[in-house]
Amino acid sequence: MLNTWKKSAKAALAFVAAACMAPHTLAGNAQAGAKINSNCIGCHGIPGYKTAFPVVHTVPKISGQNPAYIEAALKAYRSGDRSHPSMVGIAKTLTDQNKADLAAYYSGKGSEKHTPATVKGGNVAAGKQKADAVCAACHGADGIKSIDPSYPILAGQYPDYLARALTEYQKGTRKNAIMAGMAAALTKQEIADVAAYYASLPSPLNSNK
Ligand code: HEC
Ligand code: HEC
Repeated sequence: MLNTWKKSAKAALAFVAAACMAPHTLAGNAQAGAKINSNCIGCHGIPGYKTAFPVVHTVPKISGQNPAYIEAALKAYRSGDRSHPSMVGIAKTLTDQNKADLAAYYSGKGSEKHTPATVKGGNVAAGKQKADAVCAACHGADGIKSIDPSYPILAGQYPDYLARALTEYQKGTRKNAIMAGMAAALTKQEIADVAAYYASLPSPLNSNK
């Protein structure tokens, strides 16, 4: 009897604790993140490194990215909102605290030494026109200062990754209510243009380890 009571009291306490914790984002510790990034540098720490599966494209730069976005992205791989098989596998091995720590670590690794990409296929001027008219409202006039910290920095990201992300929103293999609508309105050429434009901009994003 006493045991049963103890058990249910414990369960009730655990429930209350979980309910209290749920709305908070965990505070990330960059030093703790530095100790668990060995599993990331083989892909994200090599400039221009390409993934081959399921589609060939450059692995995105995450150093210098917004911490809230890094954390949200890792959670989206775990929840299935994002489908890339390697990242889904990796995200499932990380606790929420690991994710917050890695976000704190990588966001602090930005640098100003960015070499803007020159891109074939996309028209930078046309991309700028589109971006100023539609995308800047959320992603900022410079592609860096977004209106919300959980939105990504687009400036300086690899153009083929940006194009891939937009195509995935169109197909629904990457789920986000806001970006699904934005991407649906773009033609293939417009995707190439905005990708070329954002990739050409100066940015803190890089492949620092
Ligand atoms: C096997 C290579 C590989 C490894 C190892 C890897 N990643 Fe990734 N990562 C990728 C690829 C490829 C993508 C893009 C996937 C997609 O299209 O959604 C990605 C995407 C991401 C994104 C989203 C970036 C964005 O701009 O949306 C974050 C954040 C991320 N990885 C963090 C990590 C962290 C942290 C680790 C280590 C714990 C890690 N990754 C290990 C290949 C890798
Ligand atoms: C109403 C706000 C809003 C507008 C307008 C908007 N975005 Fe986004 N964008 C977001 C949010 C929120 C995310 C993060 C979604 C997620 O987690 O997948 C995002 C993510 C992205 C990504 C993924 C980047 C990465 O690192 O994976 C790309 C690419 C992108 N947006 C491009 C654009 C382009 C191009 C336009 C204009 C045609 C645009 N966005 C307009 C809010 C917006």
